[in-house]
Amino acid sequence: MPQRYLVTAALPYANGPFHIGHIAGAYIPADIYVRWLRLCGEDVVFVCGSDENGAAITIQAKRENTSPKAIVDKYHEQLKTGAEQLGISFDIYHRTSDPLHHQTAQEFFKVLYNNGAFIEKESEQLYDEKFQQFLADRYVKGTCPNCGYEAAYGDQCEKCGSTLSPNDLINPVSTLSNETPILRTTKHWYLRLGNYEQWVGQWIEDQQTVERWKAHVYGSCQSWLKQGLDDRAMTRDLDWGVPVPLPNAEGKVLYVWLDAPIGYISATKALFEERGTPDLWRKYWQDQDTKLVHFIGKDNIVFHCIIFPIMLHAHGNYVLPTNVPANQFLNLDGEKLSTSRNYAVWLLDYLRDFPEQQDVLRYTLTSNMPEKKDSDFSWEDLQTKNNSELVSILGNLVNRIMVLLHKNFGGTIPEVFPEPRTIIEEAAFELRQYQRNLHYNVDQFLQQYEFRAGLQEVMNLARAANKFLTDTEPWKLIKTNPDQAGAVLTIGVEVMAYLAVYIEPFLPFTAEKMRKMLHLSDDDVAAVKTNKFVAEVGRELAPAELLFHKIEDSTIAPFVADLRHKRAILQTAQQTVTDNTSNSETSINAAPLKEAISYDDFAKLDIRTATIIAAERVPKADKLLQLTVDLGFEQRTVVSGIAAHYAPEQIIGQKVLLLANLAPRKLRGIESNGMILMAGDGEQLLFVASQGDIADGSTVS
Ligand code: 2FM
Ligand code: ZN
Repeated sequence: MPQRYLVTAALPYANGPFHIGHIAGAYIPADIYVRWLRLCGEDVVFVCGSDENGAAITIQAKRENTSPKAIVDKYHEQLKTGAEQLGISFDIYHRTSDPLHHQTAQEFFKVLYNNGAFIEKESEQLYDEKFQQFLADRYVKGTCPNCGYEAAYGDQCEKCGSTLSPNDLINPVSTLSNETPILRTTKHWYLRLGNYEQWVGQWIEDQQTVERWKAHVYGSCQSWLKQGLDDRAMTRDLDWGVPVPLPNAEGKVLYVWLDAPIGYISATKALFEERGTPDLWRKYWQDQDTKLVHFIGKDNIVFHCIIFPIMLHAHGNYVLPTNVPANQFLNLDGEKLSTSRNYAVWLLDYLRDFPEQQDVLRYTLTSNMPEKKDSDFSWEDLQTKNNSELVSILGNLVNRIMVLLHKNFGGTIPEVFPEPRTIIEEAAFELRQYQRNLHYNVDQFLQQYEFRAGLQEVMNLARAANKFLTDTEPWKLIKTNPDQAGAVLTIGVEVMAYLAVYIEPFLPFTAEKMRKMLHLSDDDVAAVKTNKFVAEVGRELAPAELLFHKIEDSTIAPFVADLRHKRAILQTAQQTVTDNTSNSETSINAAPLKEAISYDDFAKLDIRTATIIAAERVPKADKLLQLTVDLGFEQRTVVSGIAAHYAPEQIIGQKVLLLANLAPRKLRGIESNGMILMAGDGEQLLFVASQGDIADGSTVS
């Protein structure tokens, strides 16, 4: 009787596309786990969807100067496409703006309300007078009370990872107006976490006897419980999200962290509606035999290990998670990944730039998964993993077997007499042992959420098979003892069949190609799983196909350079923050940072190096100079507001940077074609130019 599993992967905020940190954190491990369970014949449902509510969405809408609805529509599509193209095998990818989710979340809230799980409280919250709005979570920035980081959000410090509430911030500033907010009274419904503290503490302990949680997950729960659980507001003053289903609650929506995990339930409901068995969701959520597993990143631990279990318990009638195998963070070239600072590798970019190489990314991220501690991604590592492991070990093995069979045996499994077969089987003793134990060993690792080790176990079979080929040298045997060569290659095909089946949870695209080459049927796969597969004489094989291709230095170099460039920008920005805080005497009165823009926005700017070759005053305008700048390939007229700082004759020959694709505009009747970039601190105004010699017209990025 198969075990029933419900597997969830964190609902990503629909305020941006996936980056590889997300992928390594939650989606690849969840997908490997689910594919493994399916392979083992278990009864699995795998749900996910976009998290489309909350301030993360409304803030992005403001950044992009559009509506929250437009934002979630755009990013839901991108998230869904990215996951699909990477082969993440969700049974459903739902969304929390769906009416079914609104209804489910509201019903859930009402049951909690009726069960007395909430307390209604008035409290003082930060309010932006200029925008006449209460400032939920990410609408406030300020200094983190734990680590002193100056740009912490109202719900979380990106630097030290601590969870905050807006009122915790020192020197809070509204991100809407950049002004200091005031405190104003508002009413909210608070989940009485304190009432469930003992229960949840005991429940976590009991869970450890069922299935031990990862040390960092358990440790993080302990530290939460040690601090004590305070009541937590589960509603917000926001005009986007699931309305609070109570009278006198206009303008209030459910807190996104209340409705998001309920999104797992509504996704399951939607799945079974799609399948025409709308009631079957209950079996997965309400029958205690279900094993519920949440895959998340470490910043979501408290919500999945403490708050959601309390919600499920307070509601009653729901299964609770057996395990929450959260991953730690994936860094990039040693620096913390940051979406807002565009220090990330975006999944859709990878899929575009490395077509048909999904498994190279899956392999790199799995072999380096931040399972127990933070890990690091670099392009050089991806290149090495591809060239030295995928190409050299798995690809090379498959290619050698297939090519030799096609060249010497017409692409079919040859007939081998018993004697040479016995001799070769002796040489394959160790290899056969690996093959026999593979299922058990992989299972042991994956049941403990050790995906890196699981993948290495499969790769070890390929390593052992390569050694077997090197030891037996079938390319020489062909001439001296073709029977023995046939026996070697038959064993090779059998090992390939095992590899095809067991690599599938990790590298599904590669597995598919291998299955096709061997014409493996479902019966063959079943035979592999019971350790009974034999390559029968006469089986025809498809033509050999290269599984992986070497990645050249010249291919990877631009990606390395791009990431270095992004890292340099990131580090300069960090250094500026440190300098400004560590020596406030010398720090300038810096203008507040403008809102983050996407890389695409930045990429629209065409900035060029240029030289001023002529300059004159603009009549009746004491601030303006009319300049002629040389771009190398053309000369332009630019009107610039620098006359208060520079005399025309002073600046002939000055090297400058020109924003060259600014739409022309008329100033005092003169058409200006571009803008000279200047650095200013309110007093000085300085030209910005490249260091060293570079031709006019060179690009700046
Ligand atoms: O951290 C995040 O990206 C959240 N959107 C995760 C939500 S997980 C679940 F609760 F839906
Ligand atoms: Zn902090």
